[in-house]
Amino acid sequence: MEAVIKESKNLKKEIARRRTFGIISHPDAGKTTLTEKLLLFGGAIQKAGAVKSSKIDRHATSDWMEIEKQRGISVATSVMGFDYRGIKINLLDTPGHQDFAEDTYRTLTAVDSVVMVIDCVKGVEIQTEKLMEVCRMRRTPVICFINKLDREGRDPYDLLDEIEAKLKIKVHPMSWPIGMGKSFKGVYSLYEKKLLFFSPSKQTLQEDFVQIDDISSPELEKFISGSEAKQLRDDIDLISGVYGDLEIEDYLNGEVAPVFFGSAVNNFGVKELLDCFIDIAPVPRSRETDLREIFPIEDKFSGFIFKIHANMDPRHRNRIAFVRICSGIFERRSNYHNVRLNKNFRFSNATAFMAQDKETIDFAYPGDIVGLYDTGNLKIGDTLNEGERALFKGIPSFSPEIFREVINLDAMKTKQLEKGLVQLMDEGVAQLFSYEMGSRKVVGTVGVLQFEVIQYRLKNEYGATSRFDSVNLYKACWFDSRDEKKLKEFIDSKYRHIARDKDGKYVFMAETKAWLQMVQENFPQINFHFTSEF
Ligand code: G4P
Repeated sequence: MEAVIKESKNLKKEIARRRTFGIISHPDAGKTTLTEKLLLFGGAIQKAGAVKSSKIDRHATSDWMEIEKQRGISVATSVMGFDYRGIKINLLDTPGHQDFAEDTYRTLTAVDSVVMVIDCVKGVEIQTEKLMEVCRMRRTPVICFINKLDREGRDPYDLLDEIEAKLKIKVHPMSWPIGMGKSFKGVYSLYEKKLLFFSPSKQTLQEDFVQIDDISSPELEKFISGSEAKQLRDDIDLISGVYGDLEIEDYLNGEVAPVFFGSAVNNFGVKELLDCFIDIAPVPRSRETDLREIFPIEDKFSGFIFKIHANMDPRHRNRIAFVRICSGIFERRSNYHNVRLNKNFRFSNATAFMAQDKETIDFAYPGDIVGLYDTGNLKIGDTLNEGERALFKGIPSFSPEIFREVINLDAMKTKQLEKGLVQLMDEGVAQLFSYEMGSRKVVGTVGVLQFEVIQYRLKNEYGATSRFDSVNLYKACWFDSRDEKKLKEFIDSKYRHIARDKDGKYVFMAETKAWLQMVQENFPQINFHFTSEF
């Protein structure tokens, strides 16, 4: 009995010191640079360059083998765990390459908060908008880091307005820039009441700052010119009036995004971001299952799989499944229950991710990510626990953007083709839709690169030869209705355009936007959904 109490006290402490988050941005805004600098400030790596070298080069779009290789390398950096000021930080990497956006969406289901990097020259870009939509759906708390202040960027007020308008979230400046580009002097941290001085090409991690609690004090003029001081005082006056005080609850509910200004490549503004992040970012939270809410503090282990990384080498079929721990303590060599398969599995090879290294672990806590070696039993979205039937929700598939029909080129290898397709879909490489009528199979992805990946892997790993033909499709919409009769009527009248997804759910395959709208108008009792969970 005593042991259980001791254990749960430990669990409480471990949960309280965990922060699990992801960094998202439009490619080139500085995600990799910021990741690296956070690891440097956190003491997890000793020199710059390590993360950079494993970054997927978005310019190498034509050479997907190269990209896959880089993705292979990036397994090591998929999850970077490190301790900073007594807090265990788990930073989940999200692929910047837009063809792998679905991977990013899924990774966002495993984090408790995100840091969003925005380039001050380019402002809010398209990929950022899409990623923000996913955060909004889940009410994920967001902190913005406006990067590249050493460049002549846009006016900070315009940037804040743009974030509010395009990302549909209120903002709250935590620091304020003094000048920009060539005249960039630094920032005043409203959070820590410090004046931080910028020096270009700074290589050290030493901060250069003075504490100034009251910026109306004439002391300010000792450090910046009279006109800069006046401008700063006016700005701070204005932003205090407009944005008021930050209510941490609003941030935690995903309604307000605290905003920092900095320059990641110059080590500027990164430590402030990290220090504030560990103060305010959420600890692991409860999660919904189809039966009940599960709390991290529960003594029974539970978790879900949000990512599967395949080994590209056909001689070693094993894959790594990434599990986000949601409750209890994960223990290596324990038997855990896969709810979907209603079967127990023993995982003797669990791996934790510490910055650049993988290491075998014996215990892991809510918020942590462990890697499990798997020979093909696990699937994205699977729940593992100690025997309860509850399945975690909130790991949806999104309607793909590009569709192609799979054509089998070798009738002798039909079985292999089907097996290969199912396994690749389990890994989340793409989505498969099987038409109700005939045996047509359509694969949907967010990027064209995946078709090459699938074709190559089907051939090399399963011996199946295939071709992907263009099809005229706009969206795959999941649908349902309260009215069984109307649902049947709809399915009967549109049977040529109805397919099933990997879980057997009905999907309406809409050919054009206009046609989809017309169908929606003609069948008002049918609800159409753009994600698989509704
Ligand atoms: P990403 O992961 O979001 O795609 O962006 P990444 O960090 O790779 O940064 C994209 C480019 O922006 C890099 O330049 C990087 O050095 C630069 N960068 C990052 N932070 C800052 C900053 O604060 N100021 C300025 N001026 N540039 C910044 P690159 O030329 O593509 O690569 P590299 O050769 O410099 O490594």
